Amino acid sequence: MRSRLSAVSILLSLAIAATANVAAQQNNAPHLKKRGAATQLIVDGHPFLILGGEILNSSSSSLDYMKPIWPRLASMNLNTVITPLSWELVEPTEGNFDFTLVDGLLAQARQQHEHVVFLWLASWKNGMSSYAPAWVKHDTHRFPRVVEHNREVEVLTPLAAATQQADARAFAALMRHIKEADSQDHTVLMMQVENEVGVLNDSRDHSAAADQAFASPVPKQLTQYLESHHDQLYPDLRALWDANGDRTTGSWPEVFGDTIRADEAFMAWHYATYIEAVAAAGKAAYDIPMYVNTWLAGDDSTPGQFPSGGPEPRVVDIWKAAGSAIDIYAPDLYAENFIDWCRRYHRDGNPLFMPETRGSTAGAANVFYALGEEAGIGFSPFAIDALESDPSGDLASSYAAIASIEPMLLAHQSAGDVHGFVLDKNRSSVDFAMNGYTVHVSRDQIFGSQADSGFGLIMATGLDEFLGVGKGFRVSFVPRSGPQVGIASIDEGKFVDGQWIAGRRLNGDEDDQGQYWRFDPRHLSTEKLKLYRYQ
Ligand code: DGJ
Repeated sequence: MRSRLSAVSILLSLAIAATANVAAQQNNAPHLKKRGAATQLIVDGHPFLILGGEILNSSSSSLDYMKPIWPRLASMNLNTVITPLSWELVEPTEGNFDFTLVDGLLAQARQQHEHVVFLWLASWKNGMSSYAPAWVKHDTHRFPRVVEHNREVEVLTPLAAATQQADARAFAALMRHIKEADSQDHTVLMMQVENEVGVLNDSRDHSAAADQAFASPVPKQLTQYLESHHDQLYPDLRALWDANGDRTTGSWPEVFGDTIRADEAFMAWHYATYIEAVAAAGKAAYDIPMYVNTWLAGDDSTPGQFPSGGPEPRVVDIWKAAGSAIDIYAPDLYAENFIDWCRRYHRDGNPLFMPETRGSTAGAANVFYALGEEAGIGFSPFAIDALESDPSGDLASSYAAIASIEPMLLAHQSAGDVHGFVLDKNRSSVDFAMNGYTVHVSRDQIFGSQADSGFGLIMATGLDEFLGVGKGFRVSFVPRSGPQVGIASIDEGKFVDGQWIAGRRLNGDEDDQGQYWRFDPRHLSTEKLKLYRYQ
């Protein structure tokens, strides 16, 4: 019954949302747009890069607490703050909505010329349901819970229509209010719907309703998606479905194999259809980009050790099959193998956005890879309001440098000819093709001293002209054909309001006697390079 009801409600909401989407773009609401090689966030009619940070879970529950935080984040060169909003504080008693906090947070953000991405912490947060209002928590009959190991746990099950409808109603009320309060200012850029959903400590819900659904046929909407997208499916999911004969009929174990992976696929579908309904109801009220975030599975962990059913790369296709109200599938990317995870999410039309990641020195480097190499729409370390979040100021410096070249970076993201990199002892160099050259970037070294690490990005700005930002690396060029190449000039400088202000002309030791385009490991620099050709 729920699946038919939710399918009708999703379809109806999506039809309304599709109309709203056109209206949103017409009234210039923030939206995503495919621009050449990149999908970019458009704000007030222009592409925009989120140089952000997510504040701690409880900070934004108090306007007084937040008052000194906004100017501190602005001083760290953030342009966007990822800000929790909870169902319990928005709808403290059923049907009575309180937007005092929302309005206060918007006013504080505007005072500091900051944008906001709101996190809708409602049915789930880190797999649990602590942000649901008390009137939901009390009524376990109307709002049933997940059963794990024969015991009800404090987690709302995604198989309950009443819970989905209550969550969707509250979210739609919030989005109507945000539209009323912000459709001119566009302070709010996107919405995160729920937070790191999935079943923890078990691989699926074992409630009676879940057991019955698990033994029932996999919905046609899903099997038809798998069939029509077979070649684009994430390799791991395609292999799983292929291994079971690419079945388009049968129960979950019959289609996905009688293993824990079927449990994960089952939960992915139910979280996805639930959250699609919530997001679609919100979009019907105010259509701005909406995304979900993911507690990433460790390479050796099993569903339940990480939240089973969350939008891991290997089940994102199942999430996509549930609908189109979710625009972005986002990693909470704390893992050391940062580049691997970026690539697992930046695929099949999914733009890269990370609402949570490491900050400080690691974030200061990773942002260049995310926004350069992967054409990311934004970057946002977690706990940005913690006093020790950026002790060295490295992240603030990276954000300032990227902000100074933002229009150019966005243009080259769209052209698909910018490369970002992070170098260390495990990844000491990278090569890429650019402007008719093979470009070799390696950790900087001179007079026998090699930098431990380096990071930055490079873009071609004209025939034999390049712009580079970063530190700790050096660059050489090998022509793909034609005459030999040499360094004509290197100028360091900065962009101020889009205008280039030249500084030193770098030569001698600063470009290793004309052999390399060098970036000093001791400080970030922005440099322009001109090459020349000779026989
Ligand atoms: C990821 C969650 O999304 C955040 O809300 C927070 O709990 C962090 N983990 C803590 O590391």
